[in-house]
Amino acid sequence: MNEPHDNSETAGDLVLGVDIGGSSVKAGRVVPGEGELVGTRVRMELPRPPRPAPVLDMIVETCAREGPVSRVGCTFPGVVERGRVRTAVNMGPEWTGLDLRAELQKRFAAAWGHEVPVVTVNDADAAGVAEVRWGAARGATGVVLAVTLGTGIGSALFIDGILVPNTELGHIEIGGRDAETFAAARWRVEEDLTWEEWGSRVDRYLRRLEALIPAGLIVVGGGVSQDFALFAPYLHPRASVVPARFRNDAGIVGAAAVASAADPGRPTRPTI
Ligand code: BGC
Repeated sequence: MNEPHDNSETAGDLVLGVDIGGSSVKAGRVVPGEGELVGTRVRMELPRPPRPAPVLDMIVETCAREGPVSRVGCTFPGVVERGRVRTAVNMGPEWTGLDLRAELQKRFAAAWGHEVPVVTVNDADAAGVAEVRWGAARGATGVVLAVTLGTGIGSALFIDGILVPNTELGHIEIGGRDAETFAAARWRVEEDLTWEEWGSRVDRYLRRLEALIPAGLIVVGGGVSQDFALFAPYLHPRASVVPARFRNDAGIVGAAAVASAADPGRPTRPTI
């Protein structure tokens, strides 16, 4: 990798956080070390089908207008190791094997005229990092799980604040089915479930999860966490269950945190 261009005079220390989700992409500039978004958050609908080239072109075209940054952190809703996508359940087979980090870095370099380091991370891992650093799990020790309930189910596992990346616990099997195929937030809407009906599915999922991984604290994230009070009465795991603080911004803030903590010349190691 080339040495990053020194654009510190204009970029300051702002980091661009990009959160690729199953239905949209959200992005914003973040003050690293504080977890605060600066200015407006942009939201882009994913083209259907969400093939890599049009999605990445859209992200770079939109975000490059947002002003200078010193780094970019980008989430992906699948396993991503050392910048490369390994699984992409809700995005399509074209993503598997793609060097997401290299593809973004190339496009941002072309748009900005200089190279800016890009770091990639699983979306739920990024959301969990934001919650552990500044949110609902701040200062929590021991085993902490963050789950994101959205188009799919994502998971982030922390041990004394250190992330164990790419855990993929949304795919544990319950009653012969992949958990995210019945307990993700999309099913409440798509199957027109009551909060009790859907909350009971989430309860079943969380209790199975804690039977496998005895967490002391479970943070529930994803857009639906803003309605936490409506389904919390149906959740009965032994662990404390709390709503995420960052809601829809968790991925952006967490991606930026991972990018600013990582050494861009080395493989991504999304510890906090
Ligand atoms: C993916 C995870 C992702 C989650 C939430 C799942 O289908 O396998 O990697 O974190 O969806 O987007």
